[in-house]
This record gives sequence, structure tokens and C-alpha cells, in this order.
Amino acid sequence: MLAVEKVKKSFDGFVAVNGVSFSIKRGEICAIIGPNGAGKTTLFNLITGHLPVDEGKLFFKGMDITHMPPHRICRLGMGRSFQRTNIFPRLTVFQNIQAAVLVHRGKSLNFLKPVESFFREETQAILKRVGLKDYGETVSGSLSYGFQKQLELGIALASEPELLLLDEPTAGMSAQETHQTIELIGRITKEKGLTLLFTEHDMEVVFSIAERIMVLHQGRLIAEDTPEEVRKNSEVQKIYLGEGR
Ligand SMILES: Nc1ncnc2c1ncn2[C@@H]1O[C@H](COP(=O)(O)OP(=O)(O)OP(=O)(O)O)[C@@H](O)[C@H]1O
Ligand SMILES: [Mg+2]
Repeated sequence: MLAVEKVKKSFDGFVAVNGVSFSIKRGEICAIIGPNGAGKTTLFNLITGHLPVDEGKLFFKGMDITHMPPHRICRLGMGRSFQRTNIFPRLTVFQNIQAAVLVHRGKSLNFLKPVESFFREETQAILKRVGLKDYGETVSGSLSYGFQKQLELGIALASEPELLLLDEPTAGMSAQETHQTIELIGRITKEKGLTLLFTEHDMEVVFSIAERIMVLHQGRLIAEDTPEEVRKNSEVQKIYLGEGR
């Protein structure tokens, strides 16, 4: 599904991602963990084309996407959510999802119909899937933080991804919101047969759903293993778990 080969990225001489390589099989659920500033978000931005790589190669479903712009990578079936929410706060929940579906399927639009009538069923199905079916008419900016993140997940799903990248999907959530969100992500991943790559600081979350964990430290991948092995890895304990996060 995804192959990352010796990918490198610097910002003004500071190496944020330093020769990272790994691959992910179709259907896998993988987590990338690491302390603040380890390079996780930067790595995501490289994979999704939001940042150009300095060195290295990226392959998605066997296709070379190294120099592809984000919208083309998205169209190939890679969806993402952002560490900070990426919704239109003044639009309703329904309109946010509908806009995302429109962007994805826009090619077949019939311009004689009012735009509000486009893809209503598709939009409704996504709302239901992310647990927001009763909030369609709510102004998005007034949603609780947890619901805003669920909406973001819905926006990512609107592009019908095969590979979903989630950057800290439970950041800033209460324990209960975290639990619900993880259950939701796990369920959607299974139902849709998605491949999932996510970053997360909450270790309970990571160990509860990840099948494989990659540990990033100062831009380098220092471990890549099953949750049990990562938990036992002394280097990981020292640099990461030892920090008490
Ligand atoms: N656009 C940028 N310009 C300059 N430096 C950057 C830029 N983006 C990231 N960095 C730096 O690169 C390093 C990695 O940042 P990144 O956001 O990828 O870390 P992270 O692992 O996602 O951290 P967090 O857990 O806090 O989200 C940090 O030192 C950061 O300051
Ligand atoms: Mg980050």
C-alpha cells in the first residue's frame, strides 16, 4: 500500500526527517509514535505531498508519488486528517461533508441543479458513519472538540480513501471522547477495509489498536515492531516512554 524509502527533509539546515524507510501492507493498522518534534507531522506531510522531499522516494499502491501534488495523491486514494482541525467553522456539519464529497466527485456535476442538492445521500451516509447524523444542521464551529475531530474524519472519508493518515486523531480530547473516537476509527477501518497510519501521544490508544508501531526520534526511525516488542524495547523506553507520556 505504501513504501517510504530513505526519505529526508530539512528546514534551514535542521534535519526534521532523516532517512526514514518503512512500508505498510494493505489492511494494516500502523502507528507512528515519538516525542514532540520527532518529525511525525513532517513525515505525514511528505507522504501526502504537502511538503516536497529533499531526498528519497515514496510509493503508493506501487506508483511513484514522490513528486506528485497533494490533490493527485488524494485522488489516488490517500486521505488524511490534520493535527489541528481543518473544517469550515461557519458551515454546518452537513455542508462541510458535502463540500468534501463535491470536491472529490465534482467531475460529474449537473450544473442545472442547485448545489445544495448534490450528493445528499452520500453526505448523509458519511455523517452516519462518523456518528454525526443528528448534527447535520449544526454550525461546525460550535461543535465540541471531539465532534469537530469526528467531522474531520468524515471529511477525510469523503475522498473515499484506501489509505487513511490520521495525525493525532484524539489530541485535546477528554478520556471519554478519546475512547469513542478510537472505537469509531477502529470500526470504520474494519468496515471499509482501510489501511490506517496514525500518530498519537496517548499510549493507551496506540497499544489498543495498532498492529505495528514505528518509533521516530529526532527524525530517525529507531524501532519498528509489534506493540508488545516496542513496549519491551529499552531504547524506546529510555527516549520515549520514560518521559511519562
Ligand atoms: N515548516 C517548518 N519550518 C521549520 N521547522 C519546522 C517546520 N515544520 C516542522 N519543523 C521542525 O521540525 C521538527 C519536527 O516537527 P514535527 O511537527 O514534524 O514534529 P512532530 O513529531 O509532529 O511533533 P508533535 O508531537 O509536537 O506534533 C520540529 O523541530 C519542528 O520545529
Ligand atoms: Mg505533529
